[in-house]
Amino acid sequence: MTKLACIDLFCGAGGLTHGLISEGVPVVAGIDVDPACRHPFETNNGARFIEEDVSRLMPAVLKDLFGDADVRILAGCAPCQPFSTYAQRYDTVGSPRWALLYEFARLVKAVRPDLVTMENVPTVEKHAVYDDFVTALGRYGYRVWHGVVDCSDYGLPQRRRRMVLLASRIGPIELMERTHEQSQTVREAIGKLPPIPAGGTLPSDPLHTASKLSKLNLQRIRESRPGGTWRDWPKRLIAECHRRDSGRTYPGVYGRMVWDEPAPTLTTQFYGFGNGRFGHPEQDRAISLREGAILQGFPEDYSFFPDGAPIHFKSLGRMIGNAVPVTLGRIIGRSILRHLAVVPETKMVDETARSVAERERNAKREPLVA
Ligand SMILES: C[S@@+](CC[C@H](N)C(=O)[O-])C[C@H]1O[C@@H](n2cnc3c(N)ncnc32)[C@H](O)[C@@H]1O
Repeated sequence: MTKLACIDLFCGAGGLTHGLISEGVPVVAGIDVDPACRHPFETNNGARFIEEDVSRLMPAVLKDLFGDADVRILAGCAPCQPFSTYAQRYDTVGSPRWALLYEFARLVKAVRPDLVTMENVPTVEKHAVYDDFVTALGRYGYRVWHGVVDCSDYGLPQRRRRMVLLASRIGPIELMERTHEQSQTVREAIGKLPPIPAGGTLPSDPLHTASKLSKLNLQRIRESRPGGTWRDWPKRLIAECHRRDSGRTYPGVYGRMVWDEPAPTLTTQFYGFGNGRFGHPEQDRAISLREGAILQGFPEDYSFFPDGAPIHFKSLGRMIGNAVPVTLGRIIGRSILRHLAVVPETKMVDETARSVAERERNAKREPLVA
């Protein structure tokens, strides 16, 4: 039997990892600088969490973690913020976070995993660091597939366009075609959750907690209709900045979700009514942290903090909003397994995929060094 092992760099709360293990791709460890990720990552996935800055990570650590696996998979969904549309307005180029893809490439070069995968915002493509990353993978002998997908095409109840990259030293690889003709909806995902008020928490599930609303925002959400904007409100409720001509073109905040559509793209601040179209379709509040997690594909009982620990909206919102949707993680996992099954040599009984990869590379005389 071919033994697989995956390491998840920038693992966060484990969205990608959970998708991979749900499909049968074993994740042995996750690495992240944020200590708050340890609990959700380890508790829900049974994998080891290593608190470490990827830019300081030694290749030997990864080699040890991979152990004697035949197929070694390195995943690395580096922070999206330096590449987001919002960041385009600021000079993030060259910042330490922007350069983390170079660190990922450094580790790929030193460790030579059989498969590599990453996910990021679609605008990552506009950045030289991404170009350099893809070029380096080619130089190291990988066949690379990358493309922008909308996660709602794969059953996520959320519109979320993301760049996905898959690279293999074994042979050509690609992400599976869309699996859902019809999008999953907000109602299907969170319609059955017990109602809670703004500022309220469900005692049996402390993550089903909604942020408080000011008196003014409570009036505003009462006047908001699903799919609408602040333009629907009486004039007295409209914020000063939106009344100005420059604000009139920015209707993307203070909306309610629509029951029978996928949710809009969740951000790290989805729990705030004023931060986007994150109002609950009919209750007068923003969606709860649990609702956000479910809309990101996490199971309803995914544990994000130890029992009795205080709730920090900012930290939890960041972990949930930044996650690779579990649904997309599953599709990546399935694509990897399909790839390993269809590459004819990996079916051979007495050979490991490693030696197969070696043979294939020799046959093609692809250069091994950068
Ligand atoms: C896009 S999120 C990853 C989401 C995760 N893959 C998931 O599916 O839940 C990026 C993560 O990178 C982490 N991070 C940022 N800088 C880092 C660094 N220098 N080393 C390790 N992790 C870092 C952040 O704490 C964050 O959890």
